[in-house]
Amino acid sequence: MQIHIPEDGHWLITALEIMSALFIFIIGLAALWVLITFIADVSQTRHAIRRNYPVIGRFRYLFEKLGGFFRQYFFAMDREELPFNRAQRTWIYRAAKDLNNTVAFGSTRDNRAPGSVLFVNTPYPTLGENAAPAIPITIGRGSRTPYIAPSFFNISGMSYGALSKPAVLALSKGAKKAGIWMNTGEGGLAPWHLQGGCDLVFQIGTAKYGVRDHDGALEDGKLVQIAAHQQVRMFEIKLSQGAKPGKGGILPADKVTREIAVIRGIKEGSASISPNRHPDITTTKTC
Ligand SMILES: Cc1cc2nc3c(=O)[nH]c(=O)nc-3n(C[C@H](O)[C@H](O)[C@H](O)COP(=O)(O)O)c2cc1C
Repeated sequence: MQIHIPEDGHWLITALEIMSALFIFIIGLAALWVLITFIADVSQTRHAIRRNYPVIGRFRYLFEKLGGFFRQYFFAMDREELPFNRAQRTWIYRAAKDLNNTVAFGSTRDNRAPGSVLFVNTPYPTLGENAAPAIPITIGRGSRTPYIAPSFFNISGMSYGALSKPAVLALSKGAKKAGIWMNTGEGGLAPWHLQGGCDLVFQIGTAKYGVRDHDGALEDGKLVQIAAHQQVRMFEIKLSQGAKPGKGGILPADKVTREIAVIRGIKEGSASISPNRHPDITTTKTC
């Protein structure tokens, strides 16, 4: 290919000169950066990798950071990641967009692993008319308002505050539709739990959020108020922070908004600790 330089081609030469100067400048800057970084790396004592492999050692941190993204798209198999693998996420993305999320025959799971649950075909399935309806479980038989629970599978406790308003609303509406109960978790009763119209189990956690006084002790008046809600069908006392046996639960200060503070009965803008057990319950023995 021939490049045609106009007769009055000074501008082109000037442009080439500027570009080459710029190129040399950038190379110079890079060399300067390498030199400074080298000196910084060999003279520091915090990171062994940077001291032993000055400059190039830094790429390890970069790749460590980028590794997560690469693995996600290139290396991880469909069912490898935790807590939600790609197959599950894809299903959820499609469901959220109202696209067809029917999974065709042919599992991508390894069903040979010990402990896999297998449903085996029966040649003589129970006819619909012969099937017995599931018997509801009666909880609190003999109490003034026993709870006749129609469902086996329900929504376990997840506090408002750990979950957002849309999440709590969606779960309570879903629970109503499915005829199941929802556990509030230890974060108290939010209006959004009630709004969906489902049955609720109010969890009394170790900080007694929602039913506590200023010092964190159980306040009977608040308990009565919560129990007065028709939808609150049961109380669950969480004896200790099973998953956090050391420190218990910590709600950071910036999550304690005015709304959360009111619902939980704690001070706005201050971090709140849900102790690893109820301070006033030390034994299963009655005194
Ligand atoms: C966002 C979030 C909040 C939770 N809050 C509570 C809680 O307030 N009280 C409780 O007993 N468990 C709480 N849990 C634990 C769940 O109830 C459940 O036991 C746990 O997630 C294990 O079940 P999974 O394997 O189905 O997630 C919470 C879990 C999540 C993910």
